[in-house]
Amino acid sequence: MKRAICPGSFDPPTKGHIDIITRAAGLFDEIIAVVVVNPAKNPSFTAAERMDMLKKSTAHLPNVTVDSHCGLLVEYVKEIEAVAIVKGLRAMSDFEYEFQMALTNKKMYDNADTLFLTTSIDNMYLTSSLVKQVASYKGDISGFVPSQCLKDIELRLSGRYSNE
Ligand code: PNS
Repeated sequence: MKRAICPGSFDPPTKGHIDIITRAAGLFDEIIAVVVVNPAKNPSFTAAERMDMLKKSTAHLPNVTVDSHCGLLVEYVKEIEAVAIVKGLRAMSDFEYEFQMALTNKKMYDNADTLFLTTSIDNMYLTSSLVKQVASYKGDISGFVPSQCLKDIELRLSGRYSNE
């Protein structure tokens, strides 16, 4: 049984995240999408809300489950005996930081590897921050986020910067 994780902030999940999780699910027996909680960050959605959105968006994938973790990622990887950390790479701008994290994680825990999946061309530009910005100005985010959590995201963010 080859188990891998797809970690991220998922604040909120985007179509790009779901694309990576879906493709990873085709490569491994079991995928755990992990909402990583960083106490230093000030997320727009609670960890429970992010997990709920991910669960709804991956319900059609039988070998995907959702979890959350606070702390070093490799501790989680070790605990569940995952063999890989799967991440999406959008552009060269992602590469340096991701490469650094992959090497650090490998140094701390040698029994798992980081695997980078190239983003689909449709999602190259997509980030959770951009989604939040568009939604907060009441822009249409239906092309950016999974349909299953569109309403959750709109309800939380829509009109944040509007005068109404
Ligand atoms: O969606 P993001 O914000 O790009 O995800 C980054 C994340 C949360 C996967 C990364 O910051 C992480 O793994 N954080 C956990 C803390 C940790 O293990 N840090 C050391 C990695 S070098």
